[in-house]
Amino acid sequence: MLAKVRSCALLGIDGIPLEIEVDIADGLPAFDIIGLPDASVREAKERVRAAIRNCGFIFPYSRVTVNLAPADLKKEGSSFDLAIAVGLLAATGQIPGNGAVEEGVFIGELSLDGKLRGINGTLAMALTLSKYDGYRDTTIFLPAANSTEAALVDSIYIKPVNTLKDLAEYLNGTGSLPTAKPLEPNTDQENNSELDFNEVRGQETAKRSLEIAAAGSHNALLYGPPGSGKTMLARRLPTILPAPTREEVLDMTRIHSVAGQLKPDSPLLQLRPFRSPHHSASTAGIIGGGKVPRPGEISLAHLGVLFFDELPEYRREVLEALRQPLEDKVVTVTRAAATITYPADFMFIGSMNPCPCGNYGDPQQECRCSPPQIFKYRSKLSGPLIDRIDIQVEVPGIKYEQLERDSSNGETSALIRSRVEKTRELQRERYKKIKVGANSALRSRHFEKYCPLSREARQLLHQSFQSLKLSMRAHDRIIKVARTIADLEDADTIGSSHIAEAVQYRSLDRRD
Ligand SMILES: Nc1ncnc2c1ncn2[C@@H]1O[C@H](COP(=O)(O)OP(=O)(O)OP(=O)(O)O)[C@@H](O)[C@H]1O
Ligand SMILES: [Mg+2]
Ligand SMILES: [Zn+2]
Repeated sequence: MLAKVRSCALLGIDGIPLEIEVDIADGLPAFDIIGLPDASVREAKERVRAAIRNCGFIFPYSRVTVNLAPADLKKEGSSFDLAIAVGLLAATGQIPGNGAVEEGVFIGELSLDGKLRGINGTLAMALTLSKYDGYRDTTIFLPAANSTEAALVDSIYIKPVNTLKDLAEYLNGTGSLPTAKPLEPNTDQENNSELDFNEVRGQETAKRSLEIAAAGSHNALLYGPPGSGKTMLARRLPTILPAPTREEVLDMTRIHSVAGQLKPDSPLLQLRPFRSPHHSASTAGIIGGGKVPRPGEISLAHLGVLFFDELPEYRREVLEALRQPLEDKVVTVTRAAATITYPADFMFIGSMNPCPCGNYGDPQQECRCSPPQIFKYRSKLSGPLIDRIDIQVEVPGIKYEQLERDSSNGETSALIRSRVEKTRELQRERYKKIKVGANSALRSRHFEKYCPLSREARQLLHQSFQSLKLSMRAHDRIIKVARTIADLEDADTIGSSHIAEAVQYRSLDRRD
């Protein structure tokens, strides 16, 4: 007897449809899985055998061969258990081989007692399957723990399964299984974050620069003495970014699903992510990859914020590796047989002290560092990374009395976000025909058309270069940031005040 059952594998953030054939033949009892399974798949044998028995079914005393097709794809993981078990039950006539068994898709790991365990990436699988013709309006049977994320996908039905026994009863027509109801994302940001910009007292310049960064999707570096509020400010950046669209919620959740990072009590990412990996994290952990490839922190930060607190502490290797994803907005990791591309479109925020002791430039406290020490500390940032940071934000230390005085509530995140959203909309409209999402992605070849400067602005830019000894690399950054500042005022032409403000955000570049 032969049974065919459909399942799904995961490669990167995509599902790959699989067909699983189970053949029962006469001969000495054996149980083989063929079709390039790795060790983790071969272990399915023991789980499936035990689960079938412990659910009260009979495991055949014959020659069982399971074939996973397509044969050229290396199969790994435990998510084919359920399909193999269903195939076995169908091939042995314990459930019907037609109907839902033929038309459905079965995904999930079995435990020895026949319960279904949650697996990673079901949203990604459901999304991919929904795009294939043969799978439209198909029912996917998967672990109850994964049903909410998968039910987000249109034109596919999800049936959450708790045990193999429940599923077999449903397929035999003696039991029922509910269909998961899609949970609509609630992108009302106020409900989703406990943080708000109005908790930050004073620091008006720093807040303003983060608003500009958010409005033009600019990477930023916050520098200032310990305790000045750098971490506090950075953590609140997602609250002023535009609310994610439904599609973005799917894109973000999909990556977290593949990485196994979704929490059972909140299966959807409704707020843009804020990721702050520790400087001791491994390169694979931050960039992605590894023996069993996983999205790294930069992909978990997709459509949100990646924050490196105490930037100079990170290993040079990691900082170098950020360069390509910052440019391409994706990261490619290679492994034995395939290359996998993960999305990595994030805003990068770094923080640092101005010098090793942290007090450099502070009028209250004396800096104990020697000029060579300061130079060495800052030089860790030189090169590829600092070249991709548009805005350098000074976050000065503030005195206690000043904090007291600034106790009045500042602007809420919602208010700032409304200006950011308006400005982003303007950019979307302007760059409709070119592949630019926001001002930060402009290239110098775009400047002539999209960044007209007034005569005074041009003069000021020229003067600034001479008097402040700015490096050439600062030039393009200043124009892009000035574009965003002008956009916040809805000004078509970039004026001298916009340039003047943008120049202020290059204070670390000055060579004096
Ligand atoms: N402007 C501010 N308004 C309100 N609270 C503040 C402000 N600045 C600092 N704080 C308080 O001080 C604490 C320390 O701030 P934070 O950790 O953000 O400083 P930091 O600049 O990141 O310091 P470090 O360089 O040591 O990491 C915050 O948790 C917050 O309670
Ligand atoms: Mg900090
Ligand atoms: Zn110092």
